[in-house]
Amino acid sequence: MKKFALPLTLFLGLISTAYAFDGDAEAGKAKSATCAACHGMDGNSPTDLYPKIAGQHAGYLFKQLKEFQLGAQTGGKEGRHNALMAPMVAALSEQDMKDLAAFYASQKMKEGSTPEDVVAQGEKLFRAGDMERGIAACIACHGPRGVGHSLAGFPKISFQHAAYTKAQLEAFRSGARANDMNGMMRDIAKKLTDEDIEVLSKYVGGLH
Ligand code: HEC
Ligand code: HEC
Repeated sequence: MKKFALPLTLFLGLISTAYAFDGDAEAGKAKSATCAACHGMDGNSPTDLYPKIAGQHAGYLFKQLKEFQLGAQTGGKEGRHNALMAPMVAALSEQDMKDLAAFYASQKMKEGSTPEDVVAQGEKLFRAGDMERGIAACIACHGPRGVGHSLAGFPKISFQHAAYTKAQLEAFRSGARANDMNGMMRDIAKKLTDEDIEVLSKYVGGLH
């Protein structure tokens, strides 16, 4: 029986991060006016200074909002810290966050593109990882098309602005972003070179 203990706890851990979800997209839309300045009216931020959040999984969005708030409350010791997002979430209630998450999740993320020169190298790392260097394949969690998995808490990473993806992979690598359950992303990111990060960030931007 011992054999089954670990996979089961892992599984329950994954499910519990999905949160019971009862956000109201209409209410979220009404609360999104302040967000539009950076993320665009529908969550498709027009510049790569800010991530696209349209079409991202609601559970993941909700988790990030809660963690930005926790990051602000603990001076960056817990949660996720970002100087621009901290004041945005300071006054939000849990219901506000659920509603906002439901609204953005109901929108559609605008397509991005992948520059030709990174396709071969990017596809290889994304699909197969690198056994020699102990890098897990990204598809194992984010799926073959990079759309992630809502219940498991794996975000959609395809179509995202490359500059944002790059910044996140660097943040996981340095540990500046440490809100990934069980260090899942940090373990992988710390094995990535600058070149790997550059290639992967551009590659997933146009992944279908
Ligand atoms: C002043 C610009 C600005 C405003 C306004 C803003 N954001 Fe953000 N947002 C950012 C930046 C910058 C990031 C990336 C943070 C990082 O690099 O960790 C971000 C990240 C996020 C993320 C995480 C995305 C991901 O893929 O992990 C979510 C969710 C989010 N914002 C939601 C919101 C909501 C909801 C509002 C309105 C209540 C809002 N933002 C208002 C700048 C802004
Ligand atoms: C073992 C599962 C797993 C694997 C394999 C994995 N990831 Fe992740 N990734 C996650 C989880 C979980 C998160 C969300 C962390 C959180 O809750 O904030 C994440 C988040 C991300 C983010 C941040 C998304 C955002 O919107 O901020 C990027 C970018 C990313 N992963 C890229 C990759 C790439 C590239 C690879 C392959 C080199 C990879 N991941 C492999 C589990 C994984």
